[in-house]
Amino acid sequence: MLVLTIESSCDETSAAVIRDGRAILSNIIASQIPVHQRYGGVVPELASRSHVVDITGVIEEALGTAGVELKDIDGFAVTSGPGLVGSLLVGIETAKALGFAHDKPCIGVNHLEGHLTAVLLDLPELERPAFPYIGVIVSGGHTDVYVVRGLGEYELLGRTRDDAAGEAFDKVAKLLGLPYPGGVVIDQLASTGNPEAIEFPRPMWTRKHFDFSFSGLKTAVLQHVEANGIPEGQALSDLAASFQAAVVDVLVMKALEACKKHKVPRLVFSGGVACNSALRRVSVEEATKKGVSVYFAPPRLCTDNAAMLGPIAEHYLQDETGFDAWDLEADANMPL
Ligand code: KG4
Ligand code: ZN
Repeated sequence: MLVLTIESSCDETSAAVIRDGRAILSNIIASQIPVHQRYGGVVPELASRSHVVDITGVIEEALGTAGVELKDIDGFAVTSGPGLVGSLLVGIETAKALGFAHDKPCIGVNHLEGHLTAVLLDLPELERPAFPYIGVIVSGGHTDVYVVRGLGEYELLGRTRDDAAGEAFDKVAKLLGLPYPGGVVIDQLASTGNPEAIEFPRPMWTRKHFDFSFSGLKTAVLQHVEANGIPEGQALSDLAASFQAAVVDVLVMKALEACKKHKVPRLVFSGGVACNSALRRVSVEEATKKGVSVYFAPPRLCTDNAAMLGPIAEHYLQDETGFDAWDLEADANMPL
């Protein structure tokens, strides 16, 4: 089956062509970072306008790179939530129009489901985890822990009670005067910093539940900056490394505790923060001690992209025939 997937839930316009739910024939991503950077965060109205401008070109490029035409596509899948409603609508209406014009099925898929199963895409550098696995989504909007028992079979174990992990990275970067999006900048600075320089709290450091809280950690960084000023040079790297270590320690401890409690020796991190080099290093070190295998999708499949919808789109489209997607709508708060 050849599927065209479309993702426009936030500030990336992306289209991909996926064969049999595993092989990525193309994965085109138009990033809006330059549009939002001067505002220090995503401006929803600008995001939807940029999607309108970019989406046709992105789809054409995805088809061209894959070497296929629209008539070859067997089905369309589009992120229908959660996300910014205006942004979601651009992708949804485009997918509906394509499905209707070619009389092919068009389905909405959950963005979080895409993140959770992106690791199943067949990439040479990657061994795929078997089911079940513990899936931890760490993105700009979510910090959620699931047991993934199969495609479409998820059990939510816990989530953040306030800020998401990526949001904490972005807010801390902003208060340090660093550019948006802050995660990657903090990651780079932290690589030359001492993670033990400043003792920041490890919020919700308990094995009793799998919920998180990152807003207090952000406040601790703010208080440190108010007391000492914004550091420069080595001191800035030390602060970045100390903050990052606090986030990573909590994520890794809770994730491994979920593996232990549910007797699942496979752990998958996904979402933008799964690009973080300290998270990748520390989780592998700690998991190895506990006999748990850790899997990460490559960084380009961790941040928002359309290819990540491939495995789940194939799974749901298998049972669909003909265009029947008139009622497909955006759901900004779609649960999983
Ligand atoms: O999954 P994603 O692209 O979009 C959402 O669905 O939210 O995640 C974006 C988030 C941003 O908060 C960004 O700062 C963070 O992922 N991020 C990182 C890194 N790369 C991206 N956080 C920490 N370290 C990184 N290397
Ligand atoms: Zn995402």
